[in-house]
Amino acid sequence: MRKVMSLAFALCLLSGLAVAASAQETMAKKSLYDRLGGLEAIKAVVNDFAGRVAADTRINKKFAKTNIERLGFHLVQQICAATGGPCKYEGLSMKKSHTNMKVTDGEFNALVEDLVASLDKFNVPEPEKKELLSALAPMQADIVEVKSTATGTELPANFKPAKPLSKKKVAAGPAANKTKKM
Ligand code: HEM
Repeated sequence: MRKVMSLAFALCLLSGLAVAASAQETMAKKSLYDRLGGLEAIKAVVNDFAGRVAADTRINKKFAKTNIERLGFHLVQQICAATGGPCKYEGLSMKKSHTNMKVTDGEFNALVEDLVASLDKFNVPEPEKKELLSALAPMQADIVEVKSTATGTELPANFKPAKPLSKKKVAAGPAANKTKKM
């Protein structure tokens, strides 16, 4: 009888462990997009981030000619796509959109600091924050044109901003181009 009891106990323990392992696997399989809270959470972070950038004299001169609606739309789309969400990024490449903007390393870091402040405001946990920042870090090489720690540098007078988006596109939203369930 004792043997049967201990066998039953061992089986219970094993099945308990199996359940725990599969729960962990499901967590690991969740995309960063889902762990961040989906499109509405990304929109809220980008919105807060845009406010910080606009007020940050270390970088705000660079946005003087920019159509902010287009920028916000493409930022949401880019983060959604890069984190495994149901979006396809349709903006310009990082190289093309930042060409002749003369962004420095110091300005790049300032912008990342503003993004971190927004992620902190929305209590994005450390692992998700790190994962998102690691996805953006490789873009630095295509964005920075001036190897310098300087900030607050002028936008060159001949910088040409991208065209505004159509009203139809803005109304449809950044995730309208991919039909995966949200
Ligand atoms: C990881 C860092 C960065 C990411 C992910 C990023 C992403 C983007 C995206 C998605 C766009 C929109 C492109 C389009 O609409 O076609 C854009 C445009 C722009 N970015 Fe960045 N960017 C970064 C760093 C920076 C920095 C450091 C600055 C300046 C300090 C900057 C200034 C701008 C400006 C001014 C535009 C608008 C250009 C225009 O008016 O055509 N970006 N960026």
